Amino acid sequence: MKITVVGAGAVGASVADDIIRKEICEELVLLDIKEGFSEGKALDLTQTASLLGFDTKVVGSTNDYSKTANSNVVVVTSGIPRKPGMTREELIGINAGIVKNVCENILKYSKDAIFVIISNPMDTMTYLALKSTGIPKNRIIGMGGTLDSARFKTYLSLALNCSQGDLQAMVIGGHGDTTMIPLVSKATLQGVPVSKLLSKETLDKVAADTMVGGATLTALLGTSAWYAPGAAGMALVESIVRDEKKIHPCCVYLEGEYGQKDICIGVPVVIGKNGWEKIIELELNSDEQELFQKSVDAVRNMNALLQTQA
Ligand code: LAC
Repeated sequence: MKITVVGAGAVGASVADDIIRKEICEELVLLDIKEGFSEGKALDLTQTASLLGFDTKVVGSTNDYSKTANSNVVVVTSGIPRKPGMTREELIGINAGIVKNVCENILKYSKDAIFVIISNPMDTMTYLALKSTGIPKNRIIGMGGTLDSARFKTYLSLALNCSQGDLQAMVIGGHGDTTMIPLVSKATLQGVPVSKLLSKETLDKVAADTMVGGATLTALLGTSAWYAPGAAGMALVESIVRDEKKIHPCCVYLEGEYGQKDICIGVPVVIGKNGWEKIIELELNSDEQELFQKSVDAVRNMNALLQTQA
């Protein structure tokens, strides 16, 4: 098994770090355009092997895609991250060109690769990756909902004083501050609806904090987050490599599911060796349906910018 991570910035390095600790591949390639940067990160990561206990070979590459040949899974983190006050949507012009170029180069050497897209604005970058490469839809997975759901669980666990591992909680819709939908009605603590355990005010605050989860970190850090995005990327890669068939909310191409067509947006999917293998159609209440439609409209508007800005 061979995995490539494109972009050796904070998120890319974090995904790589998490993947090698899991020992799920023989080789991990870290590729970046900045001369020597990915080689440096690869060497630094390699020097953790005896301490952390893994044997995965870590290879750095300055924009030489031949080193990525025959990768099974490719994680795309390239592009610029947002700065405080910026929305993910503002990155579209620059990142669209980068993501398109990365996907084309990867496919020259790994024609069967499954892509996990992390670059922002993630929903539109996932759509672009699908449309520009024309590869089967199941091989393009946008990582947003997995991260947003982890953030949802964090804020729920803080309110409930419980283990995050005991929570079932999912965020669907777009990966944007106003487009994501924390499904409060479906969240449970070991089967007990959280609506029975927390007041409406507290749940509203949990949902609001979840939605600006990334922006809160961007304001604190001066750039976007990396540990949780990295771990979420790793979780998807692990599900593919181990053929786990785990259900993660991910950004995938809809062809009639949830009443939508020709859009990539976050819905629960089964992740296994073929990429995303099945869409789970949840029964949404009327409020959630309305929010989903609004989210779809916003993502469609963003996708339309690909024509003018990309
Ligand atoms: C975030 C970025 C990775 O939400 O989209 O932190």
